[in-house]
Amino acid sequence: MGSPENTGTLGIFTVGMGAVATTLMAGVELIRRGRRPAVGSYSQLGWLSGPEGPPRRVAEAVGLTPLRDLVFGGVDLIESNAREAARTAGVLSAADLAEAGDFLASITAGPGVHDSTYVRNLPARRVRPEAGKLAQAEAMTREIRDFFASRGCARGVVLLTLSTEAWREPAPCHATVAAFRAGLERNDPEISPSQIYAWAAIAAGYPVVNCTPNLVLEVPAIRAAAEARGVPIAGSDLKSGQTMMKTVVAAGLAKRLFGVRGWFSTNILGNRDGLVLDEPENFRAKEVTKGGVLSDIFDAGAHPELYGDLHHQVHINYYPPKGDNKEAWDAIQLFGWLGYEMELKINFQCRDSIMAAPLVLDLALFTDLAARRGERGVQSWLGGYFKNPAALAGEKVSNDLHVQIGCLEEKLRGWR
Ligand SMILES: NC(=O)c1ccc[n+]([C@@H]2O[C@H](COP(=O)([O-])OP(=O)(O)OC[C@H]3O[C@@H](n4cnc5c(N)ncnc54)[C@H](O)[C@@H]3O)[C@@H](O)[C@H]2O)c1
Repeated sequence: MGSPENTGTLGIFTVGMGAVATTLMAGVELIRRGRRPAVGSYSQLGWLSGPEGPPRRVAEAVGLTPLRDLVFGGVDLIESNAREAARTAGVLSAADLAEAGDFLASITAGPGVHDSTYVRNLPARRVRPEAGKLAQAEAMTREIRDFFASRGCARGVVLLTLSTEAWREPAPCHATVAAFRAGLERNDPEISPSQIYAWAAIAAGYPVVNCTPNLVLEVPAIRAAAEARGVPIAGSDLKSGQTMMKTVVAAGLAKRLFGVRGWFSTNILGNRDGLVLDEPENFRAKEVTKGGVLSDIFDAGAHPELYGDLHHQVHINYYPPKGDNKEAWDAIQLFGWLGYEMELKINFQCRDSIMAAPLVLDLALFTDLAARRGERGVQSWLGGYFKNPAALAGEKVSNDLHVQIGCLEEKLRGWR
């Protein structure tokens, strides 16, 4: 039995209307018009088996919101509507942009909360007028509520699809709800725009998905606020291209008990995300989310002879000619029977936002489902969508995509 209450409009509010957000929006419209297939989206193309009866389409089996009922809005520091933003992003072909153009132009972006200490490389032009962080959070809560009300939404989801912020360790102001609120009041520099948005969305009563590597789900105050307010939250950083391939290949090597001495990953990309990541403090955020994915797959505790001396390096290079068509290389030093050495090279010429958009669609629909099912706080069953999957206290994190998809299916089967 699917959820009974999936009727009515679902609003999707994107914080940041850049390449990922606009590729999602245009894609949904082109799919609705029957012009393009929903490739890569489990919510649209997946099947769910159950204890009895034949497999059923996921969307029908659990009662996901149909694509025809989705509406979009959001905020951005540069772009004022999704058509302009999609043009800047340069992901879609001229034909697709023309076809979805009027629809995209109807999606406007309000001004955002800006702090240049978190994102230096952006020409932020559309900035909210409030100076204090508490006032900014309260204004965003109102803006999110007003958007969903103005579009007659029965429900809403807030997606953090803004630029990667400079990395910071969790600070005392993050520890509790009271400390965070006090931090907002005194403009604590450790509170980032992403955290203000997440706090505002939770206060408004809407689920939050962190598609970025920004420090949000790691903030105990935000987790506690989501629990208390009764909203689901999920993150962090979409597992879309090179890292997705890495966790698939690594899990295969680990299953066959190959040894691995080195995994060197590098990539070139020329989109706005790449420009922001050119700043070392912002790259550090990616280094953290991308760097952790091998440690549980190559378990050095269980197999010191295979993985005890593993060197894992991740590099990102901003290279404008590539645009959104990222090119990634992995050089893997492995060894087999009797310790004989081998090399494996992967060259993935992917399209960053084409890989990301179906994940974001799934996440929006699944967090809405979770909210309707009464879930609150961290949704660790959605971990397969993220490079740095947030888990509950004491829960073991797996980065193996097969294990993660198994968790997702198991959770959904419970709602079939
Ligand atoms: N493109 C991908 O495939 C992919 C994959 C995994 C993760 N991500 C992450 O998703 C995020 C978005 O990626 P993208 O490729 O869409 O980047 P993008 O640069 O195209 O879009 C980000 C947008 O956010 C806006 N922005 C920045 N700070 C803001 C703020 N404080 N308030 C409101 N708007 C703000 C920018 O003006 C920009 O338009 C990044 O953190 C990126 O690392 C992207």
